[in-house]
Amino acid sequence: MPEDHFGEDVAAHYDDPSDEMFQPAAIGPVVDVLAELAGDGAALELGIGTGRVALPLAQRGVEVHGIDLSTAMVARMRAKPGGDEIPVAIGDFATARAEGRFSLAYLVFNTINNLTTQDAQVACFENVAAHLEPGGQFVIEVGVPQLQRLPPGETVRPFALTPTHLGFDEFDVARQGLISHHYELIDGVWRSDSVPFRYVWPSELDLMARIAGMTLVERWAGWRREPFTSESTSHVSVWRRV
Ligand SMILES: C[S@@+](CC[C@H](N)C(=O)[O-])C[C@H]1O[C@@H](n2cnc3c(N)ncnc32)[C@H](O)[C@@H]1O
Repeated sequence: MPEDHFGEDVAAHYDDPSDEMFQPAAIGPVVDVLAELAGDGAALELGIGTGRVALPLAQRGVEVHGIDLSTAMVARMRAKPGGDEIPVAIGDFATARAEGRFSLAYLVFNTINNLTTQDAQVACFENVAAHLEPGGQFVIEVGVPQLQRLPPGETVRPFALTPTHLGFDEFDVARQGLISHHYELIDGVWRSDSVPFRYVWPSELDLMARIAGMTLVERWAGWRREPFTSESTSHVSVWRRV
């Protein structure tokens, strides 16, 4: 089982209404796309967390299930209205099995990068394919690796610099790895946290999909279906089980 980086300490502060990712303007377009793709079928969220996306999607009438490693994160979802009606399998989304067959599986908020080896990321695609009905679709939202912003010879890039949050990504280019270091002022106390990731290229994801019997049907720069270009810093990609 992979290490759980979303224990009680993180779960307690994860939901942050002041963060743009938690605001209706950000969540609305996500739910619009996912509800349309799910159609009349059920949806499976890998890394369902505190239900940031799953709960509003369920409120749209979609049957939502989840997989997550962190009992602390899922407990936060359970405490919200409707949160105890969503079936969740506790386990690694690269291998854990959820009951049922799904028209849609989705993995948002860069969470594919939490799988820190290529083998685990491929296994995740294979696990998704095993949950999808034929023609079912898999959606990933993830950043484009920011290597163009890393000067030659440097390994560290700041990504947050506010009075309450300092964040630095430390790249290991040979391994395609990065560690995100966070220093945050929470309730008057500075806390540090370092989480390992494996960054992954869009073309590499397409190959993983192909290994798992899926093919790319859409790639947007965001949830409003903006065109994906060389300048895009993230993408929302949709593959269909062949
Ligand atoms: C950044 S949070 C995203 C939560 C939610 N999807 C959202 O959009 O707010 C990542 C979630 O994925 C879970 N997670 C990370 N790696 C995992 C793994 N290998 N298997 C299952 N869950 C995992 C974490 O416990 C956490 O709840």
